[in-house]
Amino acid sequence: MQSQATYNYKVVRQFAIMTVVWGIVGMLVGVIAAAQLVWPELNVLEWLGYGRLRPLHTNAVIFAFGGCALFATSYYVVQRTSHTSLFAPWLASLTFWGWQLVILLAVVTLPLGLTSGKEYAELEWPIDILIAVVWVSYAVVFFGTIAKRKVSHIYVANWFYGAFILAVALLHIVNSAAIPVSLTKSYSAYAGVQDAMIQWWYGHNAVGFFLTAGFLGMMYYFVPKQAERPVYSYRLSVVHFWALIFTYMWAGPHHLHYTALPDWTQSVGMLFSLILLAPSWGGMINGIMTLSGAWHKLRTDPILKFLITALSFYGMSTFEGPMMSVKTVNALSHYTDWTVGHVHSGALGWVAMISIGSVYFLLPRLYGKTEMYSVKLINAHFWVATIGVVLYIASMWIAGVMQGLMWRATNADGTLTYSFVEGVKASYPFWTIRLVGGLLFLAGMLIMFYNMVKTIAGQKAYDAPVLTPAHA
Ligand code: HEM
Ligand code: HEM
Repeated sequence: MQSQATYNYKVVRQFAIMTVVWGIVGMLVGVIAAAQLVWPELNVLEWLGYGRLRPLHTNAVIFAFGGCALFATSYYVVQRTSHTSLFAPWLASLTFWGWQLVILLAVVTLPLGLTSGKEYAELEWPIDILIAVVWVSYAVVFFGTIAKRKVSHIYVANWFYGAFILAVALLHIVNSAAIPVSLTKSYSAYAGVQDAMIQWWYGHNAVGFFLTAGFLGMMYYFVPKQAERPVYSYRLSVVHFWALIFTYMWAGPHHLHYTALPDWTQSVGMLFSLILLAPSWGGMINGIMTLSGAWHKLRTDPILKFLITALSFYGMSTFEGPMMSVKTVNALSHYTDWTVGHVHSGALGWVAMISIGSVYFLLPRLYGKTEMYSVKLINAHFWVATIGVVLYIASMWIAGVMQGLMWRATNADGTLTYSFVEGVKASYPFWTIRLVGGLLFLAGMLIMFYNMVKTIAGQKAYDAPVLTPAHA
């Protein structure tokens, strides 16, 4: 008798576990960086100084933690919704080991100060080539699985994952073009303001596609699954998709207000950022309204709490972003901690929370169980994390507005009211509150690690049988 085909969960398991591990590492580095701002004397070693740890933090949380969550969930979702196992499983395995190698190389090179100097694209050219190879393999596995699907329909979550994979390939390859001068040093292929524009076309779309589109893929699968309700409006999800991916591509210049970039380009960036509010909120509403008729579940289901709170933070940060893109607002917010607050309401509130909720959904299912070891601990994690985010972002908003106002204040004779260091001194209490918020968020991740170990210890890995479309 022919044995029944199963989904390939091995690579999903590997990426899901590493999501939690890299989440702890990346956030720990963030906590250390936050502590160094409160106690500068913690900058003892050159390679562990703030300037080296900051890019290590951003790379670890975005590409290691966020990246592993995206790989794990996209490999799971594309198989389940296509009713087929992964295309080229050996290549999927290569993406896992290749991605871990990229992360390890980042962990070694960034503290050594080896960097291209481009934010969120700091890694030097040999690692960039490795990233391109892993990413193209990812695209082959993902789209290969879509091609061998057993249903004609391509579920909307896959559209978002697919756009994320294609856009990140394009962004990475164009922005990383460089002329190497040695194994560890290269210079950008672009110069001057063009270099800045390409970097922030990349940077903003790293937000739009790496930190948003892929996670919206997660939302469109895991929110309906956990709520046991269909997506609120399928039609809205399709409009959401096309409007979002079209608009994001043009908004990059809002990172370069008041620079040498032509003024009209800055205005185009601002305009598209304002338009971006509509598709972002359309998506958020579609996610939250999926709970229609199941609101009561929020009271008892902490996984759903993570997913829905993530959407609320998504709505908040995508309201704040367009506002900050208005030139006059940006004149106040730019260079201040307001930006850092905005970043973390998106990064902790949206990206981390939706990932955490989705991984809690996945872990037991990857080991043939229906629930995590302790639902109470998920609940504890939720509250610790939520209080942590609120402390983080509220302190940064207050510090940011205060800094902006202090820097621009002038006396009647035109001289500055405050010296720069007075602004730094006034920021200390808020940096301390941010540190406490970060510690709480990290504590939540440690609770998750314990819950994960207890859930999978002694359990056999489980690959569910492929469902025929009729039984899905
Ligand atoms: C409608 C959506 C959004 C718009 C229009 C937007 C707009 C902006 C603006 C105007 C800035 C400040 C630029 C500056 O003064 O330098 C900014 C910074 C940033 N935003 Fe957003 N934002 C949006 C959503 C998000 C989300 C959801 C996230 C995270 C998941 C995010 C992550 C970031 C990051 C990482 C930066 C800092 C970039 C840097 O300077 O290093 N944004 N955003
Ligand atoms: C325990 C949690 C975290 C802590 C304590 C933390 C702390 C920090 C600190 C201290 C900075 C430097 C701020 C500055 O330059 O003044 C920073 C920057 C940043 N973090 Fe985090 N972080 C955490 C989690 C995350 C997560 C989960 C993400 C993404 C998914 C993230 C993304 C970023 C980004 C993109 C920046 C650069 C912001 C900018 O350039 O404006 N962080 N973080």
